[in-house]
Amino acid sequence: MPLINVIKGDPIPVAPLNVRTPFVKIPLWAAILWQTLKTVAWLVKAYVQHWYATLPVTGLVWLYLAYGWQALALLLGGITTAVTCWFHVNRASWLRFGWWPALARFRRLVYRRRWMAAMVTANLSISYDKRTIIPQIRRVRCKAGGCDEVLVRMVTGQIPDDFAKASERLAQTFGVRQVKAIPGPTYGAVVLVLMRGDTLQETVEPFPIPFAPDFTALPIGVQEDGGLYRLRLFGTQVLIVGATGSGKGSAIWSIVRSLAGGVASGLVELWGLDPKGGMELGIGRALFAKFASRDFAEMAAMLEHAAATAQGRAARLAGKTRQHTPTEDEPLIVLVIDELANLTAYLTERQLKDRIKAALGIVLTQGRAVGVHVVAAIQDPRKEVLPARGLFPTRIGLRLSEPSEVDLVLGDNMRDRGALCDRIPQTQPGIGFVVLEGDPTPMRVRLTYCDDTTVRDMADDYGVAA
Ligand SMILES: Nc1ncnc2c1ncn2[C@@H]1O[C@H](COP(=O)(O)OP(=O)(O)OP(=O)(O)O)[C@@H](O)[C@H]1O
Ligand SMILES: [Mg+2]
Repeated sequence: MPLINVIKGDPIPVAPLNVRTPFVKIPLWAAILWQTLKTVAWLVKAYVQHWYATLPVTGLVWLYLAYGWQALALLLGGITTAVTCWFHVNRASWLRFGWWPALARFRRLVYRRRWMAAMVTANLSISYDKRTIIPQIRRVRCKAGGCDEVLVRMVTGQIPDDFAKASERLAQTFGVRQVKAIPGPTYGAVVLVLMRGDTLQETVEPFPIPFAPDFTALPIGVQEDGGLYRLRLFGTQVLIVGATGSGKGSAIWSIVRSLAGGVASGLVELWGLDPKGGMELGIGRALFAKFASRDFAEMAAMLEHAAATAQGRAARLAGKTRQHTPTEDEPLIVLVIDELANLTAYLTERQLKDRIKAALGIVLTQGRAVGVHVVAAIQDPRKEVLPARGLFPTRIGLRLSEPSEVDLVLGDNMRDRGALCDRIPQTQPGIGFVVLEGDPTPMRVRLTYCDDTTVRDMADDYGVAA
């Protein structure tokens, strides 16, 4: 059996061989009959293939012929009224069952028209046995926020990462902002998510402060797909990486805000370390039970205190539980560190630096199960600057200056899979990428923006420190 029959995918028709056809004399009527039959067959095929357009048109023509234009006007008026009522009464079902399926049909036509060229030029076609085979569009779905999902059956031998690597080319070809490639629901399938609109254009206002924070889902921003971005703090340590002015401060304050209810009730203790002299965390000083902004020895002592607390809790909880539950006596401790590099790399005093390194290592490795967490911000993710990068399981990648930094922050292949942190414009601070649990592709998010007044008000209302 020729292999071409086993390889899945759409073969592109090959150009006909250039041979001279034999000269056969046939009567004119036979030629006309043959042409007519061919045309009729083509028309029938097109009629059946595009039934969703041809059937309604046939119905309307029949109505006009049978009952005149009044009936036609009555029907069209009735349909328009019904659709308008549906739109106003139940927008969600109108979108889900009416508008999006109709839009998906139209988009499918658009994608199909450019599909062959797109696949060949993005190197997603496979040549075999003098034939060219391209992936096949299986289904198109439109979703909220100007997002289309195209289910594609890959050619045998392809993997979703092949599409991820070509995503930028595909985005340019289809004229959309970004394309993401996600492994499909079955083997051999990939879902291309084509995003045309940008739901994250506007600054996100701070959320209301929850009275009792849910440490497994702290709301700190919005996701590109319209959902809330909820950060899991239990069992993890959080690193925020971003170039200067990328919104690291707003990421810190979004997290602090989501915990403020716990600070007031005594379930959470925030320890602030702000080596930039208190520039960032100083305005919310009252929220922090401990605070150091100038003296590096004090910061080292604070980290050592946190390390000792983590070790003490671990020794006590060993064999009893695997996750510490915060109480007023034993609160969740969150060390909030702005510009962590000042403590790890740029510190000149060797002894102090070693103390900080050792204490930070203990907190990062032993603290996460016993309620001692770190939320740290840094500009440069390289190992020389932050040797302990690998000890932060959760990372938020804001705007970065180099493409190579993206994979350092978010993990291997994440830039190929769509985390274009280096392309975030300077005019959009607070936008970043995160990797969500159970999702192999990165999610674009925008963190809430707490301005100085909001932070001051929050510190006044929820702060505990004098
Ligand atoms: N989430 C956000 N939404 C909108 N604007 C924001 C957001 N976060 C920050 N900004 C704007 O960007 C500016 C810089 O933000 P921020 O100070 O948080 O950045 P940074 O990364 O901490 O910078 P630096 O490295 O200089 O400390 C802010 O003054 C604010 O105007
Ligand atoms: Mg800052």
